[in-house]
Amino acid sequence: MNNYFATVARGLEAIAAQELEQLGAKNISPDFTGVHFQGDKALLYRVNLWARTIFRVLVPLAEVKSYNAQQLYRSVQKLDWTEYLQPDMSIAVNCTGKNNNLNHTHFTALQIKNAIVDRQRDQYGERSDVDIKNPDLLINAHIHKNHCILSLDSSGSSLHRRGYRPAMGIAPLKETLAAALIAMSEWNPDLPFLDPLCGSGTLPIESALIALNIAPGLYRQQFGFQTWLDFDESLWQEIRQEAEAGKLFELSEPIRGSDRDLDIIEQAEDNAINCGLAAQVEFYQQELAEIEAPADKGVIICNPPYGQRIGNTEELGALYKLLGDIFKQRFTGWTAYVLTGNKELSKKIGLRTSRRLPVYNGSLPCTLLKYELY
Ligand SMILES: C[S@@+](CC[C@H](N)C(=O)[O-])C[C@H]1O[C@@H](n2cnc3c(N)ncnc32)[C@H](O)[C@@H]1O
Repeated sequence: MNNYFATVARGLEAIAAQELEQLGAKNISPDFTGVHFQGDKALLYRVNLWARTIFRVLVPLAEVKSYNAQQLYRSVQKLDWTEYLQPDMSIAVNCTGKNNNLNHTHFTALQIKNAIVDRQRDQYGERSDVDIKNPDLLINAHIHKNHCILSLDSSGSSLHRRGYRPAMGIAPLKETLAAALIAMSEWNPDLPFLDPLCGSGTLPIESALIALNIAPGLYRQQFGFQTWLDFDESLWQEIRQEAEAGKLFELSEPIRGSDRDLDIIEQAEDNAINCGLAAQVEFYQQELAEIEAPADKGVIICNPPYGQRIGNTEELGALYKLLGDIFKQRFTGWTAYVLTGNKELSKKIGLRTSRRLPVYNGSLPCTLLKYELY
């Protein structure tokens, strides 16, 4: 069994741990902005393909001393990378974290890259090229106090980049956060789903992927592990084909998104087309004030603007009040979830919350508010 570390957004550790358990991970242990787990190579591929709430899956290789740049360089140079890296492979190093002497992540990454390629030059007389965009081997370095954890990044680019969303409305949710909000809600595919402020459609699309048992990674062109020396193409194809074969084609209940902005609704439709879900997810232009419940029960999840990035607090007060009025008057029997980063605005909804779940949207502390509408 190998050790793995899944990186996640702050606050989503428990949800990601649940997801890893469902995917068959062993010895799962949530940490700050990540989850440690164990498994074999098939699990590594499966998590990359199926994870909905995880950013990256790292394979930790070594922990070295890194009091300052010289010590980091010397410690990394002592490591033998030949099992993972040959001079004809390109590399890139991503760094997170800092200490007093290593407080610029680019500089730290450069020390690590130099140590690795200098050792290669001594060993082989040649060295790997650096390719920031598409490296054959992406190394992740995390500085914590006077130590540096070096890992291989099996995902390559972050898994929230599903590949279906070139088009983005204003302030779109990350796909991983949308999937986590859905997992935190009590929605399941046997209930209608509605986002009346859907923007580029992230929440309805992520719900549809769940309802249709579609692995989000099926839309991606490339994962980091595919250019590794130990890449097992036939195992990967088997896992992909299993996922293709398990796809469903019909929703049992409707999944809808609406927004007042026609351009943004067109983006949402494009995103649904990119997923092959244009016939399943319904998007339409509609003012919130005009909305009616499409069924006598269901789940609403939405993230109204909250003044930090778009809109202005006074104007938004009216929108939050309207949201509360509409929930109360037209959505009896439904459960509604509102993600907001603005406490004052959330009070304008004027309904009693039955749960308040803390989550981060990027670096912004937010709350997912739950309303049971009797
Ligand atoms: C923060 S964005 C939602 C982002 C979305 N979750 C995504 O991932 O792209 C809020 C959306 O609410 C829409 N909106 C604001 N006021 C509205 C209203 N009165 N009726 C309908 N939509 C409205 C905006 O057009 C905007 O797209």
